[in-house]
Amino acid sequence: MLKLGVLVSGGGTNLQAILDAVDHQVIKTAEVGLVISNNAGAYALERAKNHDIPAVCISPKNFENREEFHRALLDELQKNKVDLVVLAGFLVAVPPMIVEAYPNRIINIHPSLIPSFCGTGFYGLRVHEGVLDRGVKVTGATVHFVDAGTDTGPIILQKAVEVAEGDTPEILQRRVMEEAEWKILPEAIDLIANDRVQVVDGKVRISR
Ligand code: GRF
Repeated sequence: MLKLGVLVSGGGTNLQAILDAVDHQVIKTAEVGLVISNNAGAYALERAKNHDIPAVCISPKNFENREEFHRALLDELQKNKVDLVVLAGFLVAVPPMIVEAYPNRIINIHPSLIPSFCGTGFYGLRVHEGVLDRGVKVTGATVHFVDAGTDTGPIILQKAVEVAEGDTPEILQRRVMEEAEWKILPEAIDLIANDRVQVVDGKVRISR
């Protein structure tokens, strides 16, 4: 059974999608063992507690410096024997010490079709504002492995979503969540949990 450590910062709708997929046996060989948020007020922590899942807040505000905060995050993951780290709306940059401890064992959901509208400054609604400003007709979501860069790791799954006339960033964000994020994140976890994902020369191969 693959033990998931889910890192969150906000509402936790992607966490909820994972919890629902486990409950409905869409994900059969993985379980959420731990939820960590950098934000004490994140509703995602409530979602975890409602599911009797250990949920902790590890906030940079509670540490002398960034290094100690990073060390506390890594210690919590390792103490809980997390196998796969899942960034689900996590707004903190993952430090090298954690990336190195979990090579191709950290995944992130990004609300665009990488390499478009990603990288530094592209998070949350800003992604969808960029999409609407550019006038693209198709956007979507991407699940990728996390490496030392920002949204630069090997792509695991993507799913396209139509941009509609009159979309606002909020309407588009919701559609991308419903039609893409909440589907491909659980699917990617299930594929990894069933050992069907390999990274070869920086590219993901999925054995169907
Ligand atoms: C979502 O737009 C997701 O794509 C991004 O963070 C936002 C909040 O997600 N990664 P959640 O509702 O906290 O899962």
